[in-house]
Amino acid sequence: MSGNVRPDSMKRINTKELAQAFIDEQIAEIRAQVGSGKVLLALSGGVDSSVCAALLSKAIGKQLTCVHVNHGLLRKGEPEQVCEVFGKQFDVNLIYVDAVDRFLDKLAGVSDPETKRKIIGKEFIDVFAEEAAKLDGISFLGQGTIYPDILESADGIKAHHNVGGLPKELQFELVEPVKLLFKDEVRCVGAALGLPDNMVYRQPFPGPGLGVRCTGAITRDRLETLREADAIVRGEIDAAGLGDKIWQYFCIVPDLRSTGIKDGKRTDDRMVVIRAVNSIDATSATVPELPYELLFKIRDRIFKEVPGVNRVLYDISTKPLATIEWE
Ligand code: XMP
Repeated sequence: MSGNVRPDSMKRINTKELAQAFIDEQIAEIRAQVGSGKVLLALSGGVDSSVCAALLSKAIGKQLTCVHVNHGLLRKGEPEQVCEVFGKQFDVNLIYVDAVDRFLDKLAGVSDPETKRKIIGKEFIDVFAEEAAKLDGISFLGQGTIYPDILESADGIKAHHNVGGLPKELQFELVEPVKLLFKDEVRCVGAALGLPDNMVYRQPFPGPGLGVRCTGAITRDRLETLREADAIVRGEIDAAGLGDKIWQYFCIVPDLRSTGIKDGKRTDDRMVVIRAVNSIDATSATVPELPYELLFKIRDRIFKEVPGVNRVLYDISTKPLATIEWE
């Protein structure tokens, strides 16, 4: 796709037919741009990079290599799903990098939220650049930049990681097949490409992942508590049929303990905070009324299935004054 401005004549992609026409057009454009060259793509498993990977794979097959970095801060089952969908279904060249120890070692003892974010961001680029250096003959870098990223960067609202944030030593030409699409259009294209629903319609997930929900200095056991509790919260909200009515729903395990009682003995255990918010563009957020029956079911499952937790809370804070994430 050439140019960074969406033409007025471009139709909103909101049907299977329009998505298919876009896919066909992009396949031709990608082939024309890349020729017999090789493309590298950082595949997080998020909607944008997944749709980008699927499109590139349809266009150029094995000329595409995807790198999936597991930084240890992904949700339960995510790395496995990326390997299943892209390694098997789409049969792309997929390099899975287990960087869990590397990230968690760097983060050990670091409690300042911005420092945590910086470490995660820098480490990610380092790991990716190391993988790129091992490969021969790559001349293109695929990126799942979408139109709001371009608009926000142009407005100076935030320097989006997909726009101008590449390490300079990676001298690649960019291939950005979805850069003129809005999020709903990216999802529509993803569905037409045959990506699974839970990948295409998944809720926003921050780049630093569970790292901003395991507040303060991250420890492996608290991270595991968070991952297990998060899977229960998401699973129960989905099972209640509320998944497509709530913008984001997850939980936090703060760096706090409180007193409880188990088998007649005092405990000093963790707490899980349930967070569910509705929003249009994440600049403000409201709190949906989750049924008590559902909240109690989540509490009961967490108490039963997640060791080391003696308290479950529901965060009813709106944005402002709170932010959506706790860090
Ligand atoms: P806050 O917490 O600022 O979040 O109300 C607004 C939205 O942005 C997501 N978020 C992030 N996304 N990198 C990201 O890619 C980040 O560091 C980050 N922090 C927050 C958050 O999940 C919410 O959707």
